[in-house]
Amino acid sequence: MSWRRSAGKRADKRISASTTAVTPEYENGGVIPLFDNDSLALSREQLEEGAVLLRGFATAAGPALLEEMRRIEQAAAFRQLITPGGYTMSVAMTNCGRVGWVSDRSGYRYDPVDPNTGAPWPAMPESFRELAAAAAAEGGFAHYDPDACLINRYVAGAKLSLHQDRDEKDAWAPIVSVSLGLPTVFLWGGKRRSDPVRRLRLESGDVVVWGGPARFFYHGVAPLKDGQHPLTGDTRVNLTFRKVF
Ligand code: SIN
Ligand code: FE2
Repeated sequence: MSWRRSAGKRADKRISASTTAVTPEYENGGVIPLFDNDSLALSREQLEEGAVLLRGFATAAGPALLEEMRRIEQAAAFRQLITPGGYTMSVAMTNCGRVGWVSDRSGYRYDPVDPNTGAPWPAMPESFRELAAAAAAEGGFAHYDPDACLINRYVAGAKLSLHQDRDEKDAWAPIVSVSLGLPTVFLWGGKRRSDPVRRLRLESGDVVVWGGPARFFYHGVAPLKDGQHPLTGDTRVNLTFRKVF
């Protein structure tokens, strides 16, 4: 319901301009303590009905999110998963939350335990949850309560081919994708694999939210270019939040 209510408002914005300053509506949303300034996004760009790019939304929270990530990787190390077809993914992954996304020769699944250790995945930090919920709300999806956060780490050359996220039971709640560290080119397609693909440059702190009518849109990540970033060195980190159940 809240998504539909917001959608009308967003549609107006899209007609007037593809990029608009963010209104301070979040100041009443109870999420401000996470941030040390009052502008959560520098701009918002409506990609589709149900999909929005929030530039700079996670910039202020970035260092704290990465500190949490370092705690998570102590317990659940990054690893390069094997696809069902037998390829080793170039992106290194780990997870936090009730379940974690994993891949092996038998397929893709959400697993309550880390197959490498047999232990549950580290809990999702409150700072992760709050940032994801605030971004989802800005995208028009109120009360977002993700079960899982897949953490992707890209080194130079690492990429993610065009795909849909379709291993989740909830077909409406958004994917919230937070970019940290080196910039990249995000590939944003359509409902069909053959649809035209936009190339969107994502910087550290940019957040993409897609759900509702855009939930199964194809997306991917172009090969990472060499570089150095003060927060992440020679890597890009991406947090993707999912409502699995
Ligand atoms: C994903 O599609 O799971 C990750 C996208 C990204 O790294 O930006
Ligand atoms: Fe994805």
